[in-house]
Amino acid sequence: MKLLNTNAFIDGSWVSADETFPVFDPSTGDVVAQVARSTEALTRQAIDAAEAALPAWRSTPAIERAKIMRRLEQLLHRHEDDLAALLTREQGKPLGEARGEIRYAASFLDWFASEAPRQYGETIPSPWRDRRLHVIRQAVGTAAGITPWNFPSAMPARKLAPALAAGCTFVLKPAEATPLSALAFAQLAHEAGVPAGVFNVVPGAREDAATIGGVLTSDPRVRKLSFTGSTAVGKILLAQCASTIKKVSLELGGNAPLIVFDDADVDAAVDGVMVAKFRNAGQVCVAANRILVQAGVYAKFADAMAARVAGLRVGAGIEEGTDVGPLIDEGGLKKVEAHIEDARGCGATVRVGAARHERGGTFFQPTLLEGVTMDMQMANEETFGPVAGLTKFDTEEEAIRIANDTPMGLASYFFSRDIGRVTRVSEALEYGMVGVNTGAMSTTVAPFGGIKESGLGREGSKHGLDEWTELKYVCVGL
Ligand code: SIN
Repeated sequence: MKLLNTNAFIDGSWVSADETFPVFDPSTGDVVAQVARSTEALTRQAIDAAEAALPAWRSTPAIERAKIMRRLEQLLHRHEDDLAALLTREQGKPLGEARGEIRYAASFLDWFASEAPRQYGETIPSPWRDRRLHVIRQAVGTAAGITPWNFPSAMPARKLAPALAAGCTFVLKPAEATPLSALAFAQLAHEAGVPAGVFNVVPGAREDAATIGGVLTSDPRVRKLSFTGSTAVGKILLAQCASTIKKVSLELGGNAPLIVFDDADVDAAVDGVMVAKFRNAGQVCVAANRILVQAGVYAKFADAMAARVAGLRVGAGIEEGTDVGPLIDEGGLKKVEAHIEDARGCGATVRVGAARHERGGTFFQPTLLEGVTMDMQMANEETFGPVAGLTKFDTEEEAIRIANDTPMGLASYFFSRDIGRVTRVSEALEYGMVGVNTGAMSTTVAPFGGIKESGLGREGSKHGLDEWTELKYVCVGL
């Protein structure tokens, strides 16, 4: 396998550890690689390196940092096939999706390379005759990132790119299931000319997460944490960061509603749901988790969905024509089964699937359930699997009430061709993101993030850089 690295990357060098942990191919269960278990000492070493590199990196002109970022972007494009193969191997998603993810990752380098030289300050009209008021924007400092397994390239890129653009140095802890993409990234960043210590990667086993996370969140030299993952872990990290008042951005769990109104283009709605639900086998924070369909189009919509779900091809990500790959691990599979069992026990009916796939392992049949109600587990927690559940509703008010009745607030979607409704419902949904007549809205150029228990801060867009910079007010006496 090309671009395979198995050691920690600290201060521009590969650093081995006394112990290793296995990374599995979820489509076969085979061990792909044994990767270094970063200890407390290695994590501190990475922070030491990031601190040492900080003065030179933050004082490098933004235009120079941008040039290095563009070289990294080009390397990601040049190695797209190898990076996608590695990603599919450790994560399981279809190769076409993996290629798309590498391009998505590269787009963060492109966007933030352009934003780097545009960190403008302000001059404020002074209320005093004898003083002038300025605001400058500066890098937060040494920063840490903790990323999930479902997007092993795009999530590190979504954090690394603004960190580099702002002039921060960065220590990344990738998910234990998928560290290889992040380590490949480190290799390419080094080749692109990112100076030693500016980007460090400390992989670790599941058992090491608390240790590595504990160091990253308690070391006072780390001035910022950016985390993508579950709300439960986000709460722990936020509490840990409180002791040193770090700047924190959190992209946490969702429970996305997707509403299909009677006035929707039903074919477009079905297309939208297929993307919003089955991308990456449903293992996506912004996946549609509650599908609400108005009574007038319910039967037509359910029939069309059933045909599409039954037609999805399950297979290993590297196989041509695969729509739905394996789930990441046995835990993911068990959660899907538990949600289906609970839903059936509470009265939901199976229209398609609802069982392990004949290929075995962690493959699961794409599933469509009907009669899902809001007291069921699958309506209250992310299923994170290829399971769509339909709920019938009558009025717009009812749909909005159901959609907002959750502590989560990441993504939401609805389908309607009525311009008044589009405006009303967009404003009424209590979510950080609203997709109207589309099931795919993630892009580098728009602010990605949630409200309520789905997170703090935004990634991507011009706002994404704010999370990695501080404003400094300078008052100059004449
Ligand atoms: C996520 O699941 O956290 C990210 C997916 C995306 O960027 O669309």
